[in-house]
Amino acid sequence: MKPRTKMAVAVLAGSLAAASAVYLAAGIRAVRTYAQALPAHQLPKSQGGNVVVQLCDGQTTAEIPGLKPGQRMTRAQALEFSRKLMAEWQRKHPDRGWVMAQAKNPGAAQAPAGSAAGGSGKGRETIAGPGTSSAAKFKSQQGDTYASFHERDFVIWKAQTDTFVEQGNKIFHSAQLLGSTIGVSCDMCHPNAANTHPETYPKYQEQLQRVALLRDMINWCIENPVRGATLAPDDPKMRALEAYILAQRKGVPLAYGKH
Ligand code: HEC
Repeated sequence: MKPRTKMAVAVLAGSLAAASAVYLAAGIRAVRTYAQALPAHQLPKSQGGNVVVQLCDGQTTAEIPGLKPGQRMTRAQALEFSRKLMAEWQRKHPDRGWVMAQAKNPGAAQAPAGSAAGGSGKGRETIAGPGTSSAAKFKSQQGDTYASFHERDFVIWKAQTDTFVEQGNKIFHSAQLLGSTIGVSCDMCHPNAANTHPETYPKYQEQLQRVALLRDMINWCIENPVRGATLAPDDPKMRALEAYILAQRKGVPLAYGKH
């Protein structure tokens, strides 16, 4: 190599190294930003010393008449309050569809036509789908990565997942298990986990001022409107809630980033 070419190569290598250092630093900064605590909720002052609650949108707030700090509502009162708060939100967002009725068969009801819901899809979806225990389906896996996945594994998977999802179901519906200080639970506004759209995560959430994972949004909603303490990412309750919410959307295509 001529000395001139050598120098050019050295300069090029130097600038590449500098550029990647800058890139790496930016990446680390981004990760640090992500690790920061969730933004604090700005709640307006109560008129009469009552508890003020904010919705998951970080904007809509309401005072609970007669409820002083430290007091809890009964389930019926909490339901009525949640409905009022939701009516207020729906007035602001008439274009956003919000399901308030309990679906009889949530998985099937929320899956778009033609999707793999109900175990009618092919390949892995068929193997992992509840209700698909026929031996013939396992035979179709011979020769691929999942060849070692046998009926016994499926039975174990099903039993453990069902238990896991059932725990999440209980927590989602229980103000007490969620640690709500005011008696509110998720199902009061999200029947069968409706309107939670787990398939759209990660996505940018304005109220969190960041790209959020489903668990970030769960924690945000635990803080407000549920008014409980946030859960660590590996808390068994957080894991069960995630499992339950995702299980209600079986068959819905992943669409991360979608609003
Ligand atoms: C009082 C009603 C209410 C309660 C109770 C409630 N939420 Fe929400 N939730 C909302 C509203 C309204 C939004 C929509 C906010 C927006 O995007 O503007 C929302 C949004 C969400 C989202 C984001 C949905 C999306 O499209 O990305 C998730 C996830 C969620 N809630 C989970 C929960 C969980 C988990 C709980 C219980 C810990 C809970 N919510 C309790 C009203 C409620």
